[in-house]
Amino acid sequence: MKIAFFSAQPYDKIFFDRLNKSHDFTIDYYDTHLGPHIANAVKNTDAVCVFVNDKLNVEVIETLSTNGVKIIALRCAGFNNVDIEAAKRYGIAVCRVPAYSPEAVAEHTVAMLLTVNRKTHKAYNRVREQNFSLNGLLGFNLNGKTVGVIGTGKIGKAFVKIMLGFGCKIWAYDIYPDNSLIEQGVQYTSLEHVLEEADILSLHCPLTPENHYLINQQTINLMKPGVVLINTSRGGLINTVDIIEGLKTKRIGALCIDVYEQEEMLFFKDLSTNIILDDNIQRLMSFPNVLITAHQAFFTEEALKEIAEVTLENIAKISTGQMADNAPSMLT
Ligand code: NAI
Repeated sequence: MKIAFFSAQPYDKIFFDRLNKSHDFTIDYYDTHLGPHIANAVKNTDAVCVFVNDKLNVEVIETLSTNGVKIIALRCAGFNNVDIEAAKRYGIAVCRVPAYSPEAVAEHTVAMLLTVNRKTHKAYNRVREQNFSLNGLLGFNLNGKTVGVIGTGKIGKAFVKIMLGFGCKIWAYDIYPDNSLIEQGVQYTSLEHVLEEADILSLHCPLTPENHYLINQQTINLMKPGVVLINTSRGGLINTVDIIEGLKTKRIGALCIDVYEQEEMLFFKDLSTNIILDDNIQRLMSFPNVLITAHQAFFTEEALKEIAEVTLENIAKISTGQMADNAPSMLT
């Protein structure tokens, strides 16, 4: 079994090499993205292992199929970057890691909220410069606030559990409400009502063609002035131009994003000596009430171990015909 591993980072290699000892697959690591520019170079390979910013459109999938690739192994939960229908048509198995650590993402979401609210990132720098003044660091209590959650699957649920612990009231919107959350006091309602009620709004639904730009000028206008908006899900859920406008008019009180629509040009790279050509991210970075992290919500020891373990297990099971068609990891 030979695996071409794209968008490889040093930490990926550490975890996959450690977990591969029990499989002994041949893994070739490439730091480049998988996309149309490189697909034809993938030869003599049984599987490709890809991450959130690899782009597997129909053209790439057709090329992979022609070159004999049988498995696309996503080492993440979201799969909006892979044309699943095309993979089905070309007979390529697509698997993912459906739940490597919902808590990792939920905890990062809370970390971002606490940071942007209590301004600990600014306080840290101030104190290091012997500036012990509190001016400009004023936050608000989370206790008693209304939190709106869009998508209450594994991550949304873990986030809700933490916010209930802070004494928040939760309004949620999901196509499939979760009864166990209703029992804990979560109130499901329409998307519009969640947007209207929330002091803090957190996105935890997958990106689909239907909810692309879920957050746009119209939906922003429904939100409470001063709302804190957090997106740790997928960048395409937010229309960046509209959110910049919402920040300028102060309708959005603070924004935390771990994902960004154009992130494949930026995230996971050290661009500290480059000129950034993306004016929207530069504008976002200029706001004092915007906190950006570079798709790191998943980035814990526990999650990386689980990702490597499940991805290699998925490949092993598919290649030996032991993977059930309806297994949670399978997408085709
Ligand atoms: P999940 O599949 O367990 O839950 C998603 C929930 O969203 C489901 O309950 C579903 O019914 C609901 N949903 C689907 N479409 C919706 C819509 N239009 N409006 C409202 N709800 C909708 O997925 P999980 O594990 O909770 O992950 C959620 C997303 O988080 C992933 O799709 C991925 O994009 C993102 N993610 C981000 C990570 C990061 O490092 N920043 C890491 C892992 C996942």
